[in-house]
Amino acid sequence: MGIVIKGGTVVTADRTIRADVYCEEGVIKAVGEDIDAPAGAEVVDAGGCYVMPGGIDPHTHMELPFMGTVTTEDFFSGTAAGFAGGTTMIIDFVIPNPKQRLMDAFKTWSGWAEKAAGDYSFHVAVTWWDETVHADMGTLVESHGVNSFKHFMAYKNAIMADDEVLVNSFTRCLELGAIPTVHAENGELVFRLQQQLLAQGLTGPEAHPLSRPPEVEGEAANRAIQVAKVLGVPVYIVHVSAKEALDAIIRGQDSGQRVFGEVLAGHLLIDDSVYRHPDWEVAAAHVMSPPFRSKEHQEALWRGLQAGHLHTTATDHCCFCAEQKAMGRDDFTKIPNGTAGIEDRMTVLWHHGVNTGRLTMNEFVRLTSANAAQIFNIYPRKGSVEAGADADLVVWDPKATKTISAKTQMQKVGYNIFEGMEVQGLPVYTISQGRIVHALGESRAVRGAGRYVNRPAFPSVYEAVAKRNELSRPKPVLRSAAAE
Ligand code: URP
Ligand code: ZN
Ligand code: ZN
Repeated sequence: MGIVIKGGTVVTADRTIRADVYCEEGVIKAVGEDIDAPAGAEVVDAGGCYVMPGGIDPHTHMELPFMGTVTTEDFFSGTAAGFAGGTTMIIDFVIPNPKQRLMDAFKTWSGWAEKAAGDYSFHVAVTWWDETVHADMGTLVESHGVNSFKHFMAYKNAIMADDEVLVNSFTRCLELGAIPTVHAENGELVFRLQQQLLAQGLTGPEAHPLSRPPEVEGEAANRAIQVAKVLGVPVYIVHVSAKEALDAIIRGQDSGQRVFGEVLAGHLLIDDSVYRHPDWEVAAAHVMSPPFRSKEHQEALWRGLQAGHLHTTATDHCCFCAEQKAMGRDDFTKIPNGTAGIEDRMTVLWHHGVNTGRLTMNEFVRLTSANAAQIFNIYPRKGSVEAGADADLVVWDPKATKTISAKTQMQKVGYNIFEGMEVQGLPVYTISQGRIVHALGESRAVRGAGRYVNRPAFPSVYEAVAKRNELSRPKPVLRSAAAE
């Protein structure tokens, strides 16, 4: 049985047109004016609404074991919460322990993700290096649809990748036609600052941002970008929060490098005053890395999005409940890092981006789905509204309003970083694989209905990049030749 979305305005990355959308067997069959619903097809009234690609959140952590505990949101509850906010696909992270085979971790995460209600894919983290990592990266790219590898430059004594790991892994990414991604914070500096702050008796959440100042992020972003430049590989910087990191991205782009930047909804809208909240629980609930920054960084991030220096929006959805956060009651370095947001990303970006005139609707689509689909090589299957694409759609009512609250959310956590925010512009229907999975505030998510999405490597693009590097690299001049 098909489904026809009638009477809406289709908004994609590059156009806005009055059109109906007909979907059958999980894919879009037709986009056009006045499509007659075939017998038996379900009809969705999209009058007064926009019909857009379902959101892609390229940075989530469902049921992640991290900092001595496990996130509260699993792949089912997390993807269902995503549906409530118009997001129909996530790219989560497989994070092997140091010395764990990448393939073993990939299999473990694949098992956990079988319960997902929506489509998903995986970035795989490179947390250590030996010849098995080299081999497993090849297997993941060639046989398991992985085209991106993650590097944590922070979290010393846990999953931090040092320069040797970065250089080895970036080199391997280039060979494979995969994109390296980085969490850019100088883990050595963070560690040193944490020890200094604790020694001064600063043990509360207010010390968290002091241990991770913007320079720490700027240095690591710059280092990752320069390493990528020397090796000639594109690079994607996750959760850019500081002007210093954005500046490093712009410098790389200005020098002809292919550098992509991701920004979190939270970093665009929340400032570092949250860490000085008198209630310890509230302050600790906001502990994430990189931390929320002072307001001038938010303005810089918005400008980065508007100028096209930053390309995707994500959430880093990584939920820990109050009891878990309390593990760091006496020592802020033990507060599990992470906040939630998958349910609110699209609506807060619409409200503060489109409604304020900072973003056009087409830019909104680029930033919530199309760019992620292109960068991670699943476009136009995802991130578009056209015949042949997956029927992952959101019907968006620009007039609908709500006040965001943990009391009414689906996210499995007791707080919301956007608590009390009044927003206008909400999903009324979310459609995944041609099926309504969230309707008028009611979840119809089905456990296990989500599919793993293969993301092919980009060998031809990378060959071209490698060739250009080869051509532009200065030819070595031997001393004997120089003397002639
Ligand atoms: O604080 C965060 N961001 N927690 C999740 C792990 C990461 O760094 O992305
Ligand atoms: Zn991170
Ligand atoms: Zn993350």
